[in-house]
Amino acid sequence: MSHQLWGGRFSAPTADDMRQYNDSFRFDRRLADVDITSSIAWARALARAGLISAAERDALVQGLQQIRQEFARDRFEEQPGDEDIHTAVERRLHEIAGPVALKLHTGRSRNDQVAADFRLFCIGAAEKLRENVRRLQLALLQQADQHVETLLPGYTHLQRAQPITFGHWCLAYVEMLERDRRRLEDASVRMRVLPLGSGALSGNSMGVDREELLADLAEFDSLTANSLDAVSDRDFVAELLFCNALIGVHTSRLAEDLILYSSAEFGFVTLADAYSTGSSLMPQKKNPDSMELLRGKSGRLIGDLVTVLTVLKGLSMTYNKDLQEDKEPLFDSFDTLDLGLRTAAAAVATLQVNAERMAAALDDSMLATDLADELVRQGVAFREAHGKVGQLVRRAEELHVALRDLPLIEYQAVQPDLDASIYAVFDVDRSARQKNSIGGTAPIRVAEQIARWRKLLIDSE
Ligand code: ARG
Repeated sequence: MSHQLWGGRFSAPTADDMRQYNDSFRFDRRLADVDITSSIAWARALARAGLISAAERDALVQGLQQIRQEFARDRFEEQPGDEDIHTAVERRLHEIAGPVALKLHTGRSRNDQVAADFRLFCIGAAEKLRENVRRLQLALLQQADQHVETLLPGYTHLQRAQPITFGHWCLAYVEMLERDRRRLEDASVRMRVLPLGSGALSGNSMGVDREELLADLAEFDSLTANSLDAVSDRDFVAELLFCNALIGVHTSRLAEDLILYSSAEFGFVTLADAYSTGSSLMPQKKNPDSMELLRGKSGRLIGDLVTVLTVLKGLSMTYNKDLQEDKEPLFDSFDTLDLGLRTAAAAVATLQVNAERMAAALDDSMLATDLADELVRQGVAFREAHGKVGQLVRRAEELHVALRDLPLIEYQAVQPDLDASIYAVFDVDRSARQKNSIGGTAPIRVAEQIARWRKLLIDSE
């Protein structure tokens, strides 16, 4: 017999190209595990409703568990009629358990089934990605811990601005990634709503108790309250894709910094060989490919989000086959980010920091603000102090000397009561130490943050 899940009213077979166009088993076989989980719960619900006997339920559950094993061991044999994962599982269940398999779909539609399955998949994916983000945070935290006092230039407009500590730079990314982790957690709240029992679109009339069904599926917290919305909603997919796209944007910025910092011109960091590649032509080259891919693949992550938003836009209520197009972008996004985050964590953990090169990139001009602040401490209004320091910078340029080598007489020309103690400003360590506001770059503040992150990322997990 044919195991196509429909076709009674059809008199002609599906055209070959149409079948190929329509079939989704080649990609949605990844839903095997979650499909079996939701089908087992459904079989139990049918028994509770008196629609199948306890013996029939057990036969279905056992058969489904066997199929789960077959997929897990890559032993599942695909047949030509396996249109999608749901069809394939039901076909195989019939082979294993016999005619009772024909009862499993009672009161259920692939519309509520696929919605439940995909939510289950997304819940698992979000959890895995959260853990991967945490591992990248830990790698950054470990670097921060070793470089609480290591100074380097901080940039605005990619122009050297003020001295910062490398630990502070690392923790900036830890902060961004923490928002990503929380965002994934929050998106999961909306994934944990169970659509099963909504039927094709209008609900089910077979007396299945959805509350009991919910109690049977630990991943879900509540039931969808409108069957039409339940089978047509894919917001949870779009949300997860957005979370992933933003993680992509964040890791792309991290990658860009490390690409710049690992260039000969900067030389601040050296990527491990394991996360670099060479050139086929230029023997001297060591390229930061891991970081370039991290930056480049953020494009895919954004693309996957845009794909699904575009698919959803303009869909009539309720289920439309367009919704089958939600799977590949999500799988692509998950796979891309899963590997990307693991690679990023390892590349950061094995990064060598060249503190001397960072120190060598600091110069007095980056202390001009500190000089103005010093004048403020001596009673000059900041706007005036800014102007006076500007004059000193210009004077130093005219004389081709660094600010610290400008004679005292020049300082006194702009501010008569200055004495030689003003030269104490030209100390990058002091400058960083003084940025001791909450959230500032001062080592004392960075150390506090490291302790906080350690609690958040290690102790609480
Ligand atoms: N493979 C389909 C999907 O992913 C399953 C649902 C099919 N439902 C239907 N009424 N044709 O959306």
